[in-house]
Amino acid sequence: MERQTLETFGAAETFALGEKIGRGAAPGDIYCLEGDLGAGKTVLAQGIAAGLGITEPVNSPTFTVLQVYEDGRLPLYHFDAYRLEEPEELYEIGAEEYFFGQGVSVIEWPSQIEELIPETAVWVCLEKDLGRGTEYRRVTICRSEGEA
Ligand SMILES: Nc1ncnc2c1ncn2[C@@H]1O[C@H](COP(=O)(O)OP(=O)(O)OP(=O)(O)O)[C@@H](O)[C@H]1O
Ligand SMILES: [Mg+2]
Repeated sequence: MERQTLETFGAAETFALGEKIGRGAAPGDIYCLEGDLGAGKTVLAQGIAAGLGITEPVNSPTFTVLQVYEDGRLPLYHFDAYRLEEPEELYEIGAEEYFFGQGVSVIEWPSQIEELIPETAVWVCLEKDLGRGTEYRRVTICRSEGEA
């Protein structure tokens, strides 16, 4: 596992990090975004979308589990597993076809469905540290060896 730790100071920096990830994303990439409520997962997802060239507004898909955006360089599959009761519910929406598809998957609350997530996924963890101010986030990116 290759681990990289970054810091952002405000939503704009987290968005910019997402843009960079989105610009470099390849078909089949999976990004798992971990962090508490308000950590900045959706801000990062919005940046990834922008980096993919998506211009539609990207919001938290909490009430829909999956939102698909097709107007970028690659399709974006934006998942939010927060409200899933059982990982099996994800099968019902055909999640595996998305994970192994030609688009880029971004998953908020991935720990809910951890056993369904391919090992190639990149895990991004956003953490607050209030001692460093409300706008501070530590961002830890973990990639499995051999991944670009
Ligand atoms: N460094 C930062 N990075 C990201 N967001 C920040 C940062 N500093 C402040 N914020 C603010 O924190 C909030 C993050 O909200 P966001 O919806 O992205 O969180 P989330 O992790 O998706 O939460 P949820 O679990 O409810 O979906 C936004 O209001 C954003 O402006
Ligand atoms: Mg969110």
